[in-house]
Amino acid sequence: MAGGLGSRFGGRTESMPKGFIEIDGMAMVERSVRKLLDAGIEQIIIGTGHHNEWYDRLAEKYPAIKTVKNEHFRETSSMGTLEVCAPYVTGDCLLLESDLLYDAISLFVLKNDPHSDVILASGPTHSEDEVYLQADAEGMLEKVSKKRNEIRTISGELVGISKVSKPFLDKMVEYAVRHHADMPKLDYEHAMEGVSQEGTPIFVRKVEYLAWTEIDDEAMLERALQQVWPRIRENESLRAVRREVLLNPGPSTTTDSVKYAQVVPDICPRELEFGDIMEQVSHDLTAFVADPKKYTTIMFGCSGTGADEAMLASCVPPNGKLLVVDNGSYGARFAKIASVYHMDMTVFKSSTYEPIDLGALEAEFRKQRYDALAIVYHETTTGLLNRIDQICPLAKKYGMLTLVDAVSAYGGMPIDMERLGIDFLTSTSNKHIQGMAGIGFVVCKNSELEKQKDWPMRNYYFNLYDQWQYFLKTKQTRFTPPVQTMYALRQAIIETKQETIEKRFARYTACWEILVQALDSIGLHMLVKRENQSHFITAILIPDTPKYRFEDLHDYARSFGYTIYPGKLGNIDTFRIANMGDIRPEEMQRFVPILRTYMHSIGVC
Ligand SMILES: Cc1ncc(COP(=O)(O)O)c(C=O)c1O
Repeated sequence: MAGGLGSRFGGRTESMPKGFIEIDGMAMVERSVRKLLDAGIEQIIIGTGHHNEWYDRLAEKYPAIKTVKNEHFRETSSMGTLEVCAPYVTGDCLLLESDLLYDAISLFVLKNDPHSDVILASGPTHSEDEVYLQADAEGMLEKVSKKRNEIRTISGELVGISKVSKPFLDKMVEYAVRHHADMPKLDYEHAMEGVSQEGTPIFVRKVEYLAWTEIDDEAMLERALQQVWPRIRENESLRAVRREVLLNPGPSTTTDSVKYAQVVPDICPRELEFGDIMEQVSHDLTAFVADPKKYTTIMFGCSGTGADEAMLASCVPPNGKLLVVDNGSYGARFAKIASVYHMDMTVFKSSTYEPIDLGALEAEFRKQRYDALAIVYHETTTGLLNRIDQICPLAKKYGMLTLVDAVSAYGGMPIDMERLGIDFLTSTSNKHIQGMAGIGFVVCKNSELEKQKDWPMRNYYFNLYDQWQYFLKTKQTRFTPPVQTMYALRQAIIETKQETIEKRFARYTACWEILVQALDSIGLHMLVKRENQSHFITAILIPDTPKYRFEDLHDYARSFGYTIYPGKLGNIDTFRIANMGDIRPEEMQRFVPILRTYMHSIGVC
């Protein structure tokens, strides 16, 4: 609710809404938006009024925000703004005022509370603008007032953050509509009081020492800066997880919000509520690379190799002929899996560090009829990006199904399966999508998946068609899913939508450019030519000195919080630096002197 005039501030809020007053370099409302996203909130509706254009600009920066203007913001109050927002709310929601500074734990407390309708309250703030709450013996709201003498016993002070179910919100709107004439300036908290008094109670959840403040005037701003903000910052920093920057090719570095998203109440995965989560996750995973009306994502509790196995074992037609492109460890793994299932297979071998010769590949396509092509999008072994944009359309011309391992490409670069001619694509929760390890998934073209209906099963656990049909019928997976990993993936998806895949690719590229420049200046050489690299991982030839030991470099980097990875390809020795996951250019910048110091110590530079 952000429609107010902020008139108690005088000049400062004449040309901007109060929520945009900055604390420590960030507008209060933007900080609140970030906390909401970190807490797993998928959509944020901001009811605007006074200088609504500021919020519209904020919405351009945060795709999760939708703004709705209360045209009558001068004649109404917060409930008037909530009334215009309510039609856009489709489920349970959190209600917040825009001028709040609060410890993010507030959102966790509300999400975690068993009641469906909850008002957050604190102990005494001495802010001199207190709104007191009185609750009954069961803790349900009885009265709200700014006047101390109207309250029999103070149960707590209103913070300005509540959790309400859709039915409760509808009742608040009904209440407001009934009182338009006699209470045109109704506050949302008095609508809550009215609804509670009329028999739909709302629980008052008190956190005695919560660090929070509303900011209504200069004195409150001063108090916020001097007393409240330092407490909030300290509390939140105490909950930050020690940062380790993983420069290995997955599982990749995750945000703290993804880590914390795993901390959820225990839930049986057969509950509809969890089915809804899986349905949304599956839909969103598809939407990153294809039209969810034509494609479906099928998930399994497994690593990336599990997803590759599910795809190969399910999608190569019975007695079908498979062509596997092998230009690195993961192409070789495809061939290994196919051989375990005794598939009729030809392996097309190609250089591990030079682009695939398309002429030679097409000549292979012509030699005999293949039913399916299996190829890796990004060969993580070397950082070589295969030209899927040329290879898959060509394979389609020859009538093949295209099975693509995009384990280390998906989420890191824009992919459009339909345009690229990809029928099935695999990935995992723990690489560019920036979730936790434990979920492998296959994005499938529905029209091809349907053809598998009567095919004999090559295996049991990893059968795509069965897993799909069972989920469609029951909203459950056939076998126990990794529950907490699913919640982390849901959070990782929210963060991917916020960043966008285009900007994620740009961030990775910025990190890669810093590294490549540093390698040049140190005098180290890369295995793959720049123009053929993915920007996600760089294979670096080991320096030509007997003093080099990977373990020494690894341990030295690790002592600074950076983890690097070895890489051996036949007789070519490399070490690899990946930049996947939540890694920032400034962190890559800080890694450069570490690498340089080690190389200097062994006489390379
Ligand atoms: C391209 C590619 N495919 C498959 C895999 C296998 O994934 P996992 O180790 O999760 O089984 C990886 C892992 O790095 C990979 O990079």
